[in-house]
Amino acid sequence: MPSNYIKAQKEKLAAIKSKKDIFVLGIETSCDETAASVVKNGRDILSNVVFSQIPMHTLYGGVVPEIASRAHTEKIDIVVSEALKQSGLDLSDIDAIAVTKGPGLVGALLVGVSYAKALAYASDKPLIGVNHIEGHICANYLSFKDLNPPGLCLVVSGGHSHIIDVDANDSYTLVGCTQDDAAGEAFDKAARVLGLGYPGGPKLDAVSKTGDDSFLSLPHPKTQGKYDFSFSGLKTAFINTLHNMQQKNIPYSVKDCAASFQKAVVDLLVEKTMLAVQDKNVDTLLIAGGVSANSLLRKRFTEECQKTGTSLYMPELFLCGDNAAMIAAAGHRQLLKGNLAELSLNAEPALKLI
Ligand code: KG4
Ligand code: ZN
Repeated sequence: MPSNYIKAQKEKLAAIKSKKDIFVLGIETSCDETAASVVKNGRDILSNVVFSQIPMHTLYGGVVPEIASRAHTEKIDIVVSEALKQSGLDLSDIDAIAVTKGPGLVGALLVGVSYAKALAYASDKPLIGVNHIEGHICANYLSFKDLNPPGLCLVVSGGHSHIIDVDANDSYTLVGCTQDDAAGEAFDKAARVLGLGYPGGPKLDAVSKTGDDSFLSLPHPKTQGKYDFSFSGLKTAFINTLHNMQQKNIPYSVKDCAASFQKAVVDLLVEKTMLAVQDKNVDTLLIAGGVSANSLLRKRFTEECQKTGTSLYMPELFLCGDNAAMIAAAGHRQLLKGNLAELSLNAEPALKLI
């Protein structure tokens, strides 16, 4: 009976925790990637399957939620089966199933959550609901096997630009955050205006490599909070400058404009984050989220942390974007804490970390 499900899972916890090797199956469907992965002991990736829907959304210039949900439904079973196969394990070897419960697109999240619930119930295994943002932070624990909190973490993704204090128990305190747009959102918008298409961030990063970042002088936004960000003013100034040049037939190259915008965003992220690092006297800085793949951001943080003697951790590039290995890694940590989900687990599109 489902009512006995959670009780039965909690009774298994001690036995699972005493195992030499714990295997968690992670499932991620919060946006436009259908992903599944098997992770050993929260650190070793045995498989990491990601089915990207990018070609399906490119035509529309962004993620179409209805298309995303349908594609997740079509692919999820194949992706999970492939993740199990590549791990060399059977479902019976898996100790727990972790799934992204939010934040994200509600229809997309529901596919993963429903699938994980059915799988957990049918296979009589513990279920863990994972916050997607916590997953991004935990990607660092996969890339750096000896890394453990505490530390300060900059989370930069399509929906987040947050400086977060992570304590030794994985508790989170907000240090600063964006007052308007997220960094990824700003990159995507700027890329769209430059005609670079979707997904904008990586394309803007690529063309910026040969651009002159001093071509445009963009404003340096002011924020109320010392460690807060603001990108909407920067974005509007950028769009207005482009329109102006177009109307006046002033020649410009896309790569110079892209490089100028990228520099302005990265300058702000680096400035506020390093201010927090210094004020709070922390020696460990983590970067997480899709924007952590940005080449200029990685270079600038590497340089700044060398100057201050701060230990810097950024996920390997293949773990920066959405994937299920990070969900399994976060799920592993929750499993050890006994944070199991009931079968009533629901998608939470606006789920907060803090
Ligand atoms: O974490 P993520 O994959 O999904 C969310 O949880 O939002 O982040 C996606 C965001 C998008 O805005 C994408 O354009 C941005 O990360 N992004 C980048 C780069 N790669 C991904 N932005 C700048 N430079 C990149 N190389
Ligand atoms: Zn993400």
